[in-house]
Amino acid sequence: MKMLILAGGKGTRLWPLSRELMPKQFVRFLDDRSLFQKTVERALKFSRPAEIFVVTNKEYKFRVLDDLGELGVELPAENILLEPVGKNTLPAIYWGVKTVDEIFGDSVVAVLPSDHLIEVNGAYETAFVRAEKLARNYLVTFGIKPTRPHTGYGYIRPGEAIKEGEKVLGYTVAEFKEKPDLETAKKYVESGYYWNSGMFAFSTSLFLEEAERHAPEVVKAFEEESIEKAYELAPDISIDYGVMEKTDKAAVVPLNTYWNDLGSFDAIYEVLEKDEDGNAIRITSKNAYHIGVDSKNNLIISERLTATVGVEDLIIIDTDDALLVAKKGESQKVKEIYKVLKEKN
Ligand code: GDD
Ligand code: MG
Repeated sequence: MKMLILAGGKGTRLWPLSRELMPKQFVRFLDDRSLFQKTVERALKFSRPAEIFVVTNKEYKFRVLDDLGELGVELPAENILLEPVGKNTLPAIYWGVKTVDEIFGDSVVAVLPSDHLIEVNGAYETAFVRAEKLARNYLVTFGIKPTRPHTGYGYIRPGEAIKEGEKVLGYTVAEFKEKPDLETAKKYVESGYYWNSGMFAFSTSLFLEEAERHAPEVVKAFEEESIEKAYELAPDISIDYGVMEKTDKAAVVPLNTYWNDLGSFDAIYEVLEKDEDGNAIRITSKNAYHIGVDSKNNLIISERLTATVGVEDLIIIDTDDALLVAKKGESQKVKEIYKVLKEKN
């Protein structure tokens, strides 16, 4: 299977850990592997390096090359697609799929976002095997069982079962709704919708046809002579709004494994190991550590000796040149800071 890794996003809800020049997919905040590196390792489960493609911003070229180098993975130069400007996921995926199709001819490609934490186990492998079987006839999504009415995700209503003999491979998609409002999300969670994981699988020919049908402006942009010109013309649109909400050729394969999109510091707190006081501490420089006196349930990511006294439920993110202190449970609002910074610069 060919793999298309998306690594061009900005991750604005993780400031100051995630920066314009160092977005979250390249930050080592969980362990010594970045989320991008973990994604490459997942891709290598099913594909050879020559079959793995990366679409990212030209600003991140060396982040990508360094991360690959550290893993000892070498991709052909033409497999690394450098966007002059980010226009969201549809142009990135379209360019990637078109390139795969030009190099390999019609083939099945899986799209992998690089900003998730996902447990690779038997269930993950089964879902990919099923998706590969469906990918010639469907734009396959991977459905995660929702745990709450999150408004930052796509929601999928499963339709009829698609079977191979007696075995159910997946379901047709009766409805795909990207980022609904809270009321709608609540209704969806109660009525058995899945979250869209953000990963996809389809044959290049099917995707190119569906893009032509539902997003002709994107297709037209890539008919230009140069990639610069294509990106000037391409609309800023995600695959979810641009194709998945509109197509009647989608299927969903349920993915029953641990999945966390690490979209906020609260989500990061959830996945990090906690000490006996419920503190998740990650001190990134070698000789530094944390001293806690009566401190409970905090998330602390810091580069230096850090001490806390009598504080609970705080998020403390300390970097070279910026410090964030936030209340746990409110970390979604961190993206507001990013907006203010943008206005100031
Ligand atoms: N190359 C490139 N260019 N990559 C991009 C761009 C771009 O302009 N914009 C975003 N990406 C990458 C991000 O780095 C990430 O890996 C992936 O594409 C998804 O983009 P997000 O911006 O993080 O999307 P989202 O989280 O709002 O929504 C998507 O993921 C959800 C699950 O986390 C949607 O597919 C939702 O339906 C889904 O539920
Ligand atoms: Mg995301």
